[in-house]
Amino acid sequence: MATSGQRGGFNSKLGFILAAAGSAIGLGNIWRFPYSAGENGGAAFILVYLVAVVFICMPVLFAELAIGRATQKSPVGAFEQLAPKSGWKFVGGLGVLTGFAILAFYAVIAGWTIGYVGKAVMGEFSNMASSEAAEAVFTALSGSPWYSTALTALFLALTALVVRGGVQGGIERAAKVLMPIFLVLLVGLCIRSVTLPGASEGLSFLFKVDFSKITLPVVVSALGQALFSMSLGMGAMITYGSYVSRKERLPGAAVGVGLADTVIAMLAGLMVFPALFAAGGSPDAGPGLVFIAMPSIFHSLPAGSVIAVFFYMLLAIAALTSTISLLEVVVAYFVDQWNWSRRMATWGVTFACFLLAIPSALSGDFLGFQSVLFGNYALSIGALLICLFVGWRWGVAAAVAEIYHGLETRPLGGVWSALVRYVCPVVILGLIVAIILNSVFGLGMTF
Ligand code: PHE
Repeated sequence: MATSGQRGGFNSKLGFILAAAGSAIGLGNIWRFPYSAGENGGAAFILVYLVAVVFICMPVLFAELAIGRATQKSPVGAFEQLAPKSGWKFVGGLGVLTGFAILAFYAVIAGWTIGYVGKAVMGEFSNMASSEAAEAVFTALSGSPWYSTALTALFLALTALVVRGGVQGGIERAAKVLMPIFLVLLVGLCIRSVTLPGASEGLSFLFKVDFSKITLPVVVSALGQALFSMSLGMGAMITYGSYVSRKERLPGAAVGVGLADTVIAMLAGLMVFPALFAAGGSPDAGPGLVFIAMPSIFHSLPAGSVIAVFFYMLLAIAALTSTISLLEVVVAYFVDQWNWSRRMATWGVTFACFLLAIPSALSGDFLGFQSVLFGNYALSIGALLICLFVGWRWGVAAAVAEIYHGLETRPLGGVWSALVRYVCPVVILGLIVAIILNSVFGLGMTF
């Protein structure tokens, strides 16, 4: 079932779903989603997030997968094929650059999760009884140049080992092993969290919508979070789509990926907030939530240090299946466009990425800057351009034919077309304007 030629491809639809869901499910779900929801009013944020997933992100996901599968090429080659001799290939190029840059800060945070697995195994969580103590531990780890850089290098090396193995032998195989482990850990931790005494406060924070909390900053954060969480706007899904055989039916697989990402984000909320409220923590701890607020909770839980080991393993696994997809976008570019061997592309890109990661490993400010520039700006600009390309250049008719290839009917084909042509571009443009205004005038939105 693999696609023909040198490129390789996923062996089965399930393999694709697991790998693409693995890309989508990452630190975005377990680290960023809970703190964004926590800072932005809980249930109100989640409601807007769900609307954004259905009406904006799902259409963009279909657009990216259609481009990839139609061309069987990674982003630059794909745009070149669908719009020869035009500037559109730079949209692919922007995606490759964005993937490279996201990997360079994402791997730093991912490295910390491994550091925390180590701390949990060594029983160091007993030093984190108060959140001040936990903060001191976090600052020591993230502020230690050598430790932070070494953990980043370790994480990048793990990623490279998988990507080096190719689409089937590396990415698909890793996803098939890692995703089930991930799910078992997550469900186990959720059950623990919601059965704690005092958990109900966390549940109502998550599910009781206070409509007055739906403000512009909440909408902007939720939409940005949804795009990032579904790995959209930089061609990761174009690349993964290019490894799907045309014998497979795309719609079901795409819905599976979007659903998995969303359900996992909700479960992450169920894992974090009941435990947080039960321990008297506050939800608006920001980016330090899982590294500072959670450790002091583990301390107060029965068998907390065992739970902590599982929790940080869960984060590390989620991060790994995402860094794999980020690296794959860049590697596929060099393999497809420059005819590099996979081995050379993998190690070359990984090394270059490590160099760019060093400043982020050394400075939280640089990391934050990279995250805004690439995680917010570049992804939203990429998503906008992808919609414009599919809606107005390549054309929705061709895209619909690709999406529904092999099916007799085309349910929602018209709705999708309208969303990609009009609704998504307008809304995503609004998002871009809002984040620019926020950067320039400091409107206090946090992403
Ligand atoms: N979706 C990933 C996460 O939620 C991050 C990511 C973004 C991965 C873009 C690939 C491309 O953590």
